[in-house]
Amino acid sequence: MSLKGKTAVVTGGGSGIGRACAVQLARDGAAIAVWDLNGDAAAETVSLIEAEGNKAKAYTGDASAPDSIASILVRIRAELGPVLVLVNNAGITGFVAFLDITPEALERMYRINLMGPFFMTQAVISDMLAAGWGRIVNISSSSAQTGAKGMTHYSSSKGGVIALTKSLAAEFADRGITVNNIPPGFIDTPMLRGSPVNLDATAATSPMKRAGRPEDMAAACSFLASDAAGYITGQTLGVNGGRVIY
Ligand SMILES: NC(=O)c1ccc[n+]([C@@H]2O[C@H](COP(=O)([O-])OP(=O)(O)OC[C@H]3O[C@@H](n4cnc5c(N)ncnc54)[C@H](O)[C@@H]3O)[C@@H](O)[C@H]2O)c1
Repeated sequence: MSLKGKTAVVTGGGSGIGRACAVQLARDGAAIAVWDLNGDAAAETVSLIEAEGNKAKAYTGDASAPDSIASILVRIRAELGPVLVLVNNAGITGFVAFLDITPEALERMYRINLMGPFFMTQAVISDMLAAGWGRIVNISSSSAQTGAKGMTHYSSSKGGVIALTKSLAAEFADRGITVNNIPPGFIDTPMLRGSPVNLDATAATSPMKRAGRPEDMAAACSFLASDAAGYITGQTLGVNGGRVIY
């Protein structure tokens, strides 16, 4: 699966799923812009990629703020070239009872998880249109497929990501650009470990008796970003170890 000569942006590339996707896309040949709010974490991912002899640069900033997006993209285009692969992965989670969700918490959730991918895509898609080739992979959530008690602001933001995926896929299908989403379910990352989810207990009741690994996500991301997946668009590719089947 060669992405040689292409540049990929991975938002939230400093941790967990984003880091694994960044490392794998670099192995596939892409130059990676590792974009994260946490500059040290982004730099660590770059070190991992460079240690394997592959190419990456770290960019620190908010992937949901139009000003920050515009200024970082100027640097990425100058330093790595036009962006032909975009992984909208940056996100936050939240476990709050429905009646306790404040307008501020809801706005923050939607801004980072849903408006971020929207603004990022608006900002980079001109590169893909110019090339007549592009790959957008949105990281959604199995909570949007099943519903999730105590996570209405989170799961509804991710439901929006799935709808965004489908609409973008329809709008750009005849321009060489595919847009798909991967809803992870129960992947062992700092986000999951920082949540109220009991990792061992949940693993014990999982169909595969284990949590997913970030690398399980990266394999799906790599495929959807490849030429091999060129006839696949608007789709939802669950990576959840059989926890969600339909
Ligand atoms: N881990 C799971 O089981 C799971 C399940 C469902 C969905 N997801 C989704 O997968 C994605 C990655 O999750 P993870 O588990 O690897 O989380 P993580 O917390 O380990 O990593 C997320 C990264 O995104 C960065 N980030 C957050 N907001 C940002 C912003 N505005 N701009 C730039 N960077 C930002 C963080 O600094 C962090 O490095 C998220 O969108 C999450 O909602 C994860």
